[in-house]
Amino acid sequence: MAGAPQAFLLFLLLLSQPRDTSPATLFCSPKRVNGILGESVILPLDSGMMFKSITWSAPSPRQDAASGTTVPLAVVTPGGPGGLPRLVVEDERYRGRVRLYGRTYSLEISNLTMTDEGKYEAEKNLIGHSKYSCGYPLSIYKRLSEPEIRVHPVMAGNGTCNVTFTCSAGERARHLTYTWTRPAGGAVLSTEESLLVQHRLGDEDSPITCTATNPVSNSSASASPKVACEGPTPPQAPALSYCRAKGILVLGVLGTLLAGILTVHVLAAREQTRP
Ligand SMILES: *[C@@H]1O[C@H](CO)[C@@H](O)[C@H](O)[C@H]1NC(C)=O
Ligand SMILES: *[C@@H]1O[C@H](CO)[C@@H](O)[C@H](O)[C@H]1NC(C)=O
Ligand SMILES: *[C@@H]1O[C@H](CO)[C@@H](O)[C@H](O)[C@H]1NC(C)=O
Ligand SMILES: *[C@@H]1O[C@H](CO)[C@@H](O)[C@H](O)[C@H]1NC(C)=O
Repeated sequence: MAGAPQAFLLFLLLLSQPRDTSPATLFCSPKRVNGILGESVILPLDSGMMFKSITWSAPSPRQDAASGTTVPLAVVTPGGPGGLPRLVVEDERYRGRVRLYGRTYSLEISNLTMTDEGKYEAEKNLIGHSKYSCGYPLSIYKRLSEPEIRVHPVMAGNGTCNVTFTCSAGERARHLTYTWTRPAGGAVLSTEESLLVQHRLGDEDSPITCTATNPVSNSSASASPKVACEGPTPPQAPALSYCRAKGILVLGVLGTLLAGILTVHVLAAREQTRP
């Protein structure tokens, strides 16, 4: 477990520590965490080492505060023997949105908003006078919805069509990348936002797929060069109505013929009955 080397480091630190000085603080390397807008995130803290209390800090809400400035968020104290630890939330912004995750001292924040971004901190006050401190730079991203593909076909002469596809997964999209593949999930054609495809009129269709990816999600959409250049293939409905139109025409012709024949017969009959 990761607790063992930490405990060992702390032991060394305590040994090298002259008595009655200011408390020693052991820092862990910052743990970058990505959260999804509207969902939850866990700031991991391992439960090794006995402690008196854990103080969680949140990014300062003040716009003019220097980046990395924190304010108290919550305090965790161990429960009695066999009891659950106590969590007291001090920051209004997080009331009802934080809890300890499972049976650890990790902090879970739910219903994330963009304003939750920034640097969090956990400071464990250990038995004795030392502290263990961890920083958590938190970034929040949107879960990507299906990208939109815009199409711009240009006839290049000689029966070829140059079609430019442009993929877009919404504005305010940070750390967003696009990947064009054909077939879906197959060979990568491009990692730009736009893709130029040459399509020979009459050739087989070969759809392309755009996948938008950000640090928390990915989403794909496909488009067809053939449809972009030649228009949608006629669906079944017009063919049906064409058949129906033909049927009606045939019926009409038959009807007229029948009427004609009848008229001729009736006229002939009248001629015969005339004296
Ligand atoms: C968090 O979101 C859920 C569902 O979106 C909602 O029911 C709940 O009231 C929200 N809680 C807080 C504290 O905003
Ligand atoms: C079509 O694309 C080809 C290959 O990129 C290019 O050489 C040609 O100039 C383009 N034609 C038109 C009309 O855009
Ligand atoms: C058009 O196609 C013909 C025959 O396929 C070829 O000889 C000619 O070079 C082509 N012209 C252009 C501009 O691509
Ligand atoms: C896309 O997201 C799925 C889960 O939604 C994941 O399993 C997959 O590895 C991701 N693919 C890429 C290329 O990031």
